[in-house]
Amino acid sequence: MKPYYLTTPIYYASGEPHIGHAYTTILTDTLARYGRQTGTDVTFLTGTDEHGQKMKEAAADKKTSPKELADKMAEGFKKAWIDLDISFDRFIRTTDQAHVDLVQDILIRLWENKEIYSDIYSGWYCIHEERYWTSREVGGQQLCPDCKRPVEYVEETNYFFRMGKYQERLLSHINKNPNWIIPKTRRNEVLGFLNKPLEDLSISRPKKRLDWGITLPFDESHVCYVWVDALFSYVTGSSFPSESTKGPEYNCWPADLQVVGKDILTTHSVYWPTLLMASNLPLPKKILAHGWWLSEDAKMSKSMGNVIDPLQLKEQFGTDAVRWYLLRDMPTGSDATFTKERFNTRYEELANVLGNLASRTISMIAKYKLGVLPSKTETDLKEELKETLHKFKQHMEELQVHSALDVAMDLARKANAYIDQKEPWALARDTAQVQSLDTTLATLHRILTLLTILLFPVMPEKMSELARRLGLSTVPTLNNFDVILSERSKVEEGSPLFPKDIL
Ligand code: MSP
Repeated sequence: MKPYYLTTPIYYASGEPHIGHAYTTILTDTLARYGRQTGTDVTFLTGTDEHGQKMKEAAADKKTSPKELADKMAEGFKKAWIDLDISFDRFIRTTDQAHVDLVQDILIRLWENKEIYSDIYSGWYCIHEERYWTSREVGGQQLCPDCKRPVEYVEETNYFFRMGKYQERLLSHINKNPNWIIPKTRRNEVLGFLNKPLEDLSISRPKKRLDWGITLPFDESHVCYVWVDALFSYVTGSSFPSESTKGPEYNCWPADLQVVGKDILTTHSVYWPTLLMASNLPLPKKILAHGWWLSEDAKMSKSMGNVIDPLQLKEQFGTDAVRWYLLRDMPTGSDATFTKERFNTRYEELANVLGNLASRTISMIAKYKLGVLPSKTETDLKEELKETLHKFKQHMEELQVHSALDVAMDLARKANAYIDQKEPWALARDTAQVQSLDTTLATLHRILTLLTILLFPVMPEKMSELARRLGLSTVPTLNNFDVILSERSKVEEGSPLFPKDIL
């Protein structure tokens, strides 16, 4: 069986990782980890986009070569993702030879099948966005509609992909598969875009203007357009060469889920599927387009000078607090504004609800049961547990991560209320209530165990620690929950899981 294959975009290696990149990657990582928690075999790809004009200019600015800069930045991205506990299986770089070979193979195939033709292009080009614009789009001021930078006028021989001819097929695919693009609002934007005639796509740049890219195999004086090059990295990254344990023939294309930001949805839901159709390759099964992190209503981006460094945040608050805030505070698919106040509120929620539940439960088990609960104890709140699990799974399947987290926190709140209602301290004073005390503590222990499973994808470090303190050998999965629970040993008290003095 092919594993569940999911991808992040590959990030431009011309700049440092920022909070936007971190969000896309943490979101994808959470979905990957959740998949593993449900027993799915998951393959998770991320990487760096290393060709193109922007890369060349960044290297020139730093007085280095594009390849040297790419080597350094790819290491930087990898390190950032390791620091943020990203469980990627493979890191693809577009300068990898295997990728260059794949792109050239595809281009030859498209050229031979007459999916590509040459023509003169005249129009506007934005170096920053690496894309052409029409006169209408750039307007009288000649500014890029996306990044608002001045565009330049170019007139050059170019190779074009017959994208327009796939318009009907793409539309019919989107119409037949209502969940192909998530959320619906973004799907509607794509449908709106496809209301107008779809033009062919320029897929080359003359080397005299840009020589940092993959050479077209049928015309050595051109390089491949960086977006076409980059999109195919998902296919390169899906095949694992022989060095992998999975064997030489292993290939997990098509992707089951491609996570992207809304700014790159057109490239992923129009350019990409039509290129795949022309290459006779299957389309990804689903595309999730998330929103932007804003700073005072403007998109956070390097060029705006308002970015937040995720690694600096991690240094200050720890990886899990950063992961939690980003996923908890942004409704998956919408925009959200990054503020320290919101960060604090979300962190305090962790400390007051989950941290408090954990420390109360563990200290009561330590105090009243010398750290060990009798094994086959009855538990309460069975319906609540079932309901939580059901809703959590449903939200995760719908890729509404923030709602799933909400459901988990609700259960923690209910468990805190249950403590107040049961008053285990009173039960402990009455020998006739031993059974009732055991049931109460076992219920709390069971709920906390379930919460380690549900919240592990977002907070792998803290939930591993919580599982250890609960006397579990490991964080259970949804499949071995009862087995791991039945093997629990002594609970361990400790300092608060979410100390408030870090804020
Ligand atoms: N290299 C292309 C992608 C090629 S994929 C074949 C690219 N790279 S990028 O470095 O700009 O990173 C893009 C990702 O970062 C997108 O998912 C984008 O939405 C995300 N973010 C960048 N800034 C962002 C915010 N302020 N907020 C949330 N995510 C945003 O595009």
